[in-house]
This record gives sequence, structure tokens and C-alpha cells, in this order.
Amino acid sequence: MATGRKPGLMVPCWSRALTSCQMVTKFRRRQLLCLFCLLVIGAIFNVFSMRPHYMRVSHSMKGFLEKLLPVNAWYRRVPQCRFFDANSTALKGPIDADTDSIPSFAELEFSLAPTLQPGGIFVPHYCRPPHKVAIIVPFRERKVHLKMFLRHMHPFLQRQDLHYGIFVVEQADQGPFNRALLMNVGYVEALRLNPKFDCFVFHDVDLLPLDDRIYYSCKNQPVHLSANIDVHGNRLMYQNLFGGASMLTKEMMEKVNGFSNLYFGWGGEDDDMSFRVRSHDMKIARYTLDIARYTMIRHAKEDKNDSRRKLLKEGRTRIHQDGLNSLQYERVQLDLRPLFTLIQVKVNQSQILAKQELLQGDLKKLRKT
Ligand SMILES: *[C@@H]1O[C@H](CO)[C@@H](O)[C@H](O)[C@H]1NC(C)=O
Ligand SMILES: *[C@@H]1O[C@H](CO)[C@@H](O)[C@H](O)[C@H]1NC(C)=O
Ligand SMILES: *[C@@H]1O[C@H](CO)[C@@H](O)[C@H](O)[C@H]1NC(C)=O
Repeated sequence: MATGRKPGLMVPCWSRALTSCQMVTKFRRRQLLCLFCLLVIGAIFNVFSMRPHYMRVSHSMKGFLEKLLPVNAWYRRVPQCRFFDANSTALKGPIDADTDSIPSFAELEFSLAPTLQPGGIFVPHYCRPPHKVAIIVPFRERKVHLKMFLRHMHPFLQRQDLHYGIFVVEQADQGPFNRALLMNVGYVEALRLNPKFDCFVFHDVDLLPLDDRIYYSCKNQPVHLSANIDVHGNRLMYQNLFGGASMLTKEMMEKVNGFSNLYFGWGGEDDDMSFRVRSHDMKIARYTLDIARYTMIRHAKEDKNDSRRKLLKEGRTRIHQDGLNSLQYERVQLDLRPLFTLIQVKVNQSQILAKQELLQGDLKKLRKT
């Protein structure tokens, strides 16, 4: 008979041919084992490809699995997120900001945390965003502002279909506040958590955007976002302004060596950054004033630091000695909270200034010889 060659597959277990029956079970067992293995590999792969890449091991694992299995083709088929231009209809355009009522963290977490991953990370699953955006917020003793900021920003950023995370960098020492240094810290620490962040928004905690067409995703030039702030009389204060909320890609940050670390106290650091980008053949881009509208949450004004003028003048010679490559801080806490990642640091002012004086002395010596 023709079937004589493969009796094992034809004969059921209750038949008289015991050996065939054993063969069948063995064959089925192998099939099941294979299926099980495939399922396990698939599950591991999915976990690694969907999660934000916090664990360093996940990168190499993912790369390895991608080479091994082409099964994530379906994942790649998710469409690119729509680029929101000034005429987008999906967005609301002008929006309000609540700066009167103060929410509690419990309320905020109840309403916002379900859409977020620990550390205040949001990843849209329905489309692939063009950038991974880290929102860096320098912070000290402004809890009320922070709560209003989170309440406003999470829904705002999610409407823009961004892959983003909010990083609050808190200065935990008693010395004068150093906004620019904290922004450098936020940049470094965000990249340490996920090396794939490629777009950085540096944002004051007391500024809330009033138009959701202000797209928080990088362009090919540095963008100054907060051009039109209500308390500044709804106008651009001066042409080279770069403070408040601004946005740079990773490459731009590396090119200009980040922010200066020397601006202790209030003021000057944003003008220094403005000079850094302009002296590297970049132009500061802005939305028009009718779109780039922000409100500032009211608070007492800080004293300006008078040594900022001197620092600004010297800034030209310092760019490649003072910045990301000379950043010094002590990280005292890193906490993935439900609505944001908290990075607490201490900075040693005398140590930082002493280091730069040394470098400036070296520069003078170099110029003499
Ligand atoms: C938006 O619409 C206006 C008027 O229809 C048009 O002139 C402009 O080019 C559009 N802008 C963009 C970015 O598509
Ligand atoms: C002003 O800045 C200088 C240089 O960064 C610093 O030594 C000084 O402590 C600052 N003063 C205040 C009041 O922040
Ligand atoms: C800051 O640094 C200086 C010099 O490196 C050191 O003498 C001082 O103890 C440090 N201060 C603190 C608070 O760590």
C-alpha cells in the first residue's frame, strides 16, 4: 500500500500497532514544544520592542532578535505620526490654561497616570513619532507650579502624538540656583535612561503654552518656543531671545557643548546659549506671535545676578571648555515617579568656578606663547 511508508501518521493510538502510536505521540510532543518555543520567543521579543528602552540589555537583545526573526514587520507597518503644521485641524489651536486652582498629586496621578509609563513617559502606540522628545524642567521649591505644569503639559503633548518624557531636575543644595547647569544635567541623565532621545525641550516650570499648534518636536534649526509671553506684553522682547522654552536636537546640543555651567543666580544663561547656537551657523526659528503664546504663572521676581554681563562677554572664548564636557554634579536621587522622572542633584559652586578659572588661566597662557 502507498501509505505503508508512513504508518506512524496514519494509525491512531488505540490501534493495535503500539510502536506507531508511540511515534505519533513523540512527533506531536515535538510539534508542541516547537510551538511553545516560538510563542516564548515572540513574547520576549514583543516585550523588548514595545517598552521604552530603560534597560541597557534590551538594546542588544532587541537588535539580536530583530536579526533573528523578521516578525516585527507588523510593528513597522504602524504609520508615521502626522506632522502637525500650523493649519492642522486635529488640534484645538488656542487653548486655555488653568493657573488658579491647584491640583494635588493624587488627583493628577488618578487622571493622567493611566496613559503614562513610570517616569512620565508617553509612547503613542497608533503611530510612529518622528522624534523621541525629552522635556527638561529645571526646578527648585516650585511645587505648585510643577503641579499646574504637569496638569497642562501631559494632555497637550499627547494631543501632538509625541513620544516624550518629562524630566524634572531639582537643585538640592542651598547655593544659588543654576538653571543652565540643571538643563545640562537633564540632558545627560535623560540620555542615560534612554540613549534614543534625540530632541530636547528646555522648559521653565512657570510657562504654559496657550496654543497646541506649538509643536514640541525638533526642526532643522534650534527653536525658541516661548516668543510671546503674556507678562512681557505679548511681544518678542528682543531678537536673539532664547529663554523660557527652547528646543534643540541632540546633534545641536553636542555641537555647542550644551549650556554654560557658570551662571549662578538669575539671568544671562539663555543669552549665552543664544550666542552659542548663532556662532555655530544656526538660526533661531520661531512660530509667529499669534501662535507662540504662553502664560507665565505668577510668582515673585528673582534678583538678577550682576556678574552675568561679565560672564556673557567672556562667553565667546569659553564655549568649548565650559559646558557638557566640564559638567560636574552629584546626583542624590533618581526617581521614576508616575508623572515625571525626578533627578535631584547637588552642585558645588566653588569647585565649578575654580575649575573654569584654571581653564581661563590656561587659555591666557596659551595665547601668550
Ligand atoms: C495654511 O493655510 C494658509 C491659507 O490657506 C496657507 O497660505 C499656508 O501656506 C498654510 N500653511 C501651511 C504650513 O500649510
Ligand atoms: C553671581 O554669579 C557669580 C558667578 O557665577 C557667582 O559667583 C555669585 O555667587 C552669583 N551671585 C548670586 C547672588 O547668585
Ligand atoms: C566643594 O569643593 C571644594 C573644592 O573642591 C571642597 O573643598 C568643598 O568641601 C566642597 N564643598 C562641598 C559642600 O562639598
